Amino acid sequence: MAFWSELGDRVVGAPSILAADFANLAEDVRLAGEGGAELVHFDAMDNHYVPNLSIGPVVAASLTEAIGLPVDAHLMVDNPDNLIQPFIEAGVVSISVQPEAVTHLHRTLTMIRDGGCEAGVALNPTTPPEFIEWALPYLDYVLVMSVNPGFGGQSFIPEMADKVRRLKQMTDLPVQVDGGITVETAPLMVAAGAQVLVAGSAVYKGDPVTEMRRIIEAGRAAR
Ligand code: DX5
Ligand code: ZN
Repeated sequence: MAFWSELGDRVVGAPSILAADFANLAEDVRLAGEGGAELVHFDAMDNHYVPNLSIGPVVAASLTEAIGLPVDAHLMVDNPDNLIQPFIEAGVVSISVQPEAVTHLHRTLTMIRDGGCEAGVALNPTTPPEFIEWALPYLDYVLVMSVNPGFGGQSFIPEMADKVRRLKQMTDLPVQVDGGITVETAPLMVAAGAQVLVAGSAVYKGDPVTEMRRIIEAGRAAR
């Protein structure tokens, strides 16, 4: 199963389930899907790379069984290599790593692809796009963090729209944006070239069907 290579030039929405109700995870994902979401953004945190702890491959395995949408894992962990095989076995479609947390990025990306998943990197707000220049042939997508990784509900960092623009000058790879994405900020990122809009608190603060739909429509209108 592939998501990123089949995206074309479409703009899509992805709920970040970090903001969902974990006691009703499958239902919360279903609601975002009803609002038009086409991908699920799954945040793994380890309380080392980031000062927060979330969910891992066991939950991912249950989720991929329970829902009809592809799941994209965003690994905010030290030593992500140890978790790649378990996430592949959990049935996720793609895995992104934070290159700052990886010692041998080429090896890590190759491991993801060899396992049949699509590979991404997530760039922190002060990590320059040029950092991944030599990794581009081994990538299927780039994730631009528009907040510091670790928590939902943080404020959007506006300079990140310029980073998306710079990336799109460097590569045709699809860009995903994550952090502080709302009906107000989604258009800025789409105008800069982003295609996958990850939103957590903005989706789950209210009715997920309505909020997911509003974000996707706001993004698409900015084209
Ligand atoms: C932050 C995570 C995000 C987070 C986004 O470290 O990577 O996916 O859940 O949350 P919001 O949309 O609330 O900024
Ligand atoms: Zn994320």
